[in-house]
Amino acid sequence: MIMITHTEHFHGSDLEKIEKIYGINKDAIVSFSANVNPLGISPKLCEELKNCLDVITTYPDREYTELRKTIGTYCNTDYKNILVGNGSTELISAVIKLKNPKTACLISPTYSEYEREISLNGGKCVYYQLKPEDNFTLHTEALFSLLTETKSELLVLCNPNNPTSTALHTDTLTEILSFCQEHHVFVMIDETYVEFATDYDSVTAIPLLQHFDNFIILRGISKFFASPGLRLGYGLTGNKTLIKEINETKNPWTINSLAEAAGKILFTDTDYINRTKELIFSERERVCNILRSIPGLKVYEPTANFVLVKIEKETADADILFDTAIRRCLMIRNCSTFEGLDNKFFRLCFMMPEDNDRLLECVQEVIL
Ligand SMILES: Cc1ncc(COP(=O)(O)O)c(C=O)c1O
Repeated sequence: MIMITHTEHFHGSDLEKIEKIYGINKDAIVSFSANVNPLGISPKLCEELKNCLDVITTYPDREYTELRKTIGTYCNTDYKNILVGNGSTELISAVIKLKNPKTACLISPTYSEYEREISLNGGKCVYYQLKPEDNFTLHTEALFSLLTETKSELLVLCNPNNPTSTALHTDTLTEILSFCQEHHVFVMIDETYVEFATDYDSVTAIPLLQHFDNFIILRGISKFFASPGLRLGYGLTGNKTLIKEINETKNPWTINSLAEAAGKILFTDTDYINRTKELIFSERERVCNILRSIPGLKVYEPTANFVLVKIEKETADADILFDTAIRRCLMIRNCSTFEGLDNKFFRLCFMMPEDNDRLLECVQEVIL
């Protein structure tokens, strides 16, 4: 059998491309690459959203006050600290446009959208490189030197970080925010994956909103609530001027009324929230223990609903694993396109136990 080699890489949402290249029906693919909660949409949302279809006959509330209040309760913060957007993607873009940094510092490897937005906006990116041999640990002194030397005006932290699944905790976040406050660096913290962390309280920067106004937290419902198609994201900041400026410059009504209605249902769905945590916490531990037991693999300790793995065996790599797995309709993320990683690295998110078992079997066959 010929292995299909591709110079293109596949994003978690590129199922149409895969369908074409491999001749596989995209509905049959289990995506270990999209980092989306395998429970699918919540039964409560299915039931209740059907009954509010009428909302599409009116414009959403321009201020989204009810939705922001629901998010405020979910995040345990004042709704006046909250703004909403068309996925966290719209807010990433809005913050970068508004802050308009000449130089921005990214912690690499990380999610590619920050670099794209900064470059589109005419800014330059500098990188603090996390090292695999150091388990992707961030050293604050080295980061502070880089920020100073490069005169960075914006620092982007993805916490937990995609693709390393590593996280910074309250003490480090406090240290970084204090330094940045003093040196006039604005900090954007992407918490897209934070609800999957077992130690949520010490990873989220929400308690720090009371102490610092030089940062914004961005989040969304795409991953944890398995709803990337609804496009609902939100930002939290203690900086009222920033909220006002973003709201004045962004288009009105970018969150449609169905997403607005869905948000009000999802953030109060405690049954779904608890079931998601139970599933991810237990599968994370189970899958990682099995991966660790396979000689030739290095597993980096995960915080989010996905794990980064290095293939240390010489004759195998992530191209071979991707190709073998996709033929069984299992799609992993080959991490060779991430800065600082190569085709020895792959990422997988935790899906339902039986699907995880199928993937583990495939990994074992390729590695052993
Ligand atoms: C770290 C990170 N931030 C943001 C996004 C995009 O989120 P949204 O669907 O809320 O725009 C992704 C999607 O993969 C992501 O991995």
